Amino acid sequence: MAADITDEQQFAAALDTADEIGPLRALVHCAGAGAGAGAGTGAGARIRLVEKDGQPGAVEPFEKVIALNLIGSSNALRLGAARMAKHDAVDDERGAIVLTASVAAFEGQIGQIAYTASKSAIVGMTLCSARDLASKAIRVCTIAPGIMDTPLLGRLREDVRKPRPTRSAAPP
Ligand SMILES: NC(=O)c1ccc[n+]([C@@H]2O[C@H](COP(=O)([O-])OP(=O)(O)OC[C@H]3O[C@@H](n4cnc5c(N)ncnc54)[C@H](O)[C@@H]3O)[C@@H](O)[C@H]2O)c1
Repeated sequence: MAADITDEQQFAAALDTADEIGPLRALVHCAGAGAGAGAGTGAGARIRLVEKDGQPGAVEPFEKVIALNLIGSSNALRLGAARMAKHDAVDDERGAIVLTASVAAFEGQIGQIAYTASKSAIVGMTLCSARDLASKAIRVCTIAPGIMDTPLLGRLREDVRKPRPTRSAAPP
């Protein structure tokens, strides 16, 4: 069942459908978009702090990435956990939620200010959420993938897709 993760009613309806099949015990949240892609700025567009003409960069693309990646993750956490919490524990556990961050949370590149902000926020809220939901016997963890050849990557500009040295790999 398709649903927009930023739309509480749509996502709640999808979770209700899942819960009819069986008690919701696992939620893997991987919906997301990168540096401008999916944010109404054109596929692969960079988000600029200062435009080429010297004007401040627009705030709307930043808000859209935050709404999808960060608020979406919050929706996955709170709506998913509320359903899991209603079910009986099995082996002292009610369920697990997996969020998706990115290597960009730690190594953001040029033009990725919104993406990096959203992904590092997801990293930041992981331990907090896990502690919050521990009393309900629900686990929370986050994966932070490196660059992988998916449609998301295909929408980015060629120069953004090229591997770059990380801090640890950079020459001294
Ligand atoms: N591909 C990479 O190199 C890479 C690296 C690190 C992290 N990630 C993260 O992995 C996750 C998956 O990315 P991917 O590379 O498979 O990208 P993708 O574009 O192939 O998949 C993203 C999915 O999110 C869905 N989506 C987008 N907006 C949505 C919304 N509002 N509601 C519900 N679903 C929505 C899309 O339909 C799509 O199926 C993302 O969170 C991305 O940030 C990807």
